[in-house]
Amino acid sequence: MSSLTFGIIKPDAVKKGHSGKIIDKILAGGFTIRGMKLIHMTKKEAEGFYAVHAERPFYGELTEFMSSAPCVVMALEKENAVKAWRDLMGATNPAEAEVGTLRREFAGSIGENAVHGSDSDENATIEVSYFFSKLELV
Ligand code: RTP
Ligand code: MG
Repeated sequence: MSSLTFGIIKPDAVKKGHSGKIIDKILAGGFTIRGMKLIHMTKKEAEGFYAVHAERPFYGELTEFMSSAPCVVMALEKENAVKAWRDLMGATNPAEAEVGTLRREFAGSIGENAVHGSDSDENATIEVSYFFSKLELV
């Protein structure tokens, strides 16, 4: 059965002009895009989104970065969407990401690593509804 995941093209990748190439790879990877928009998060919105990481040492830096410039938020559908999207993204640290993954190709560092993906079906549902209303999903 196909399912939904939530993805972000992060500010570093948008700034570098990589959005189109990343969307190409998403479509070539067999995903169906159910929702997509360009947004510029406030610091508070980024803090809410990453609330699970509130106690981590990189929380301030991460939410500062995610609210620093526009990003593209997406609802992506595929069979086993959460895993399929994480496989396409590659490891969190681009130095460890496999050849052919988005982070290997487009990420500059662990902090500015081009894309985000949900880590479970449960979080995918929460994250999609954090950014999209029902009307914005097709
Ligand atoms: P994401 O949530 O962005 O898809 O990434 P992820 O699951 O692969 O990694 P996660 O552990 O959820 O961490 C969220 C984001 O925080 C930044 N980070 N920085 N400086 C550091 O050591 C560090 N560790 C994580 C990354 O940008 C990561 O994507
Ligand atoms: Mg994560």
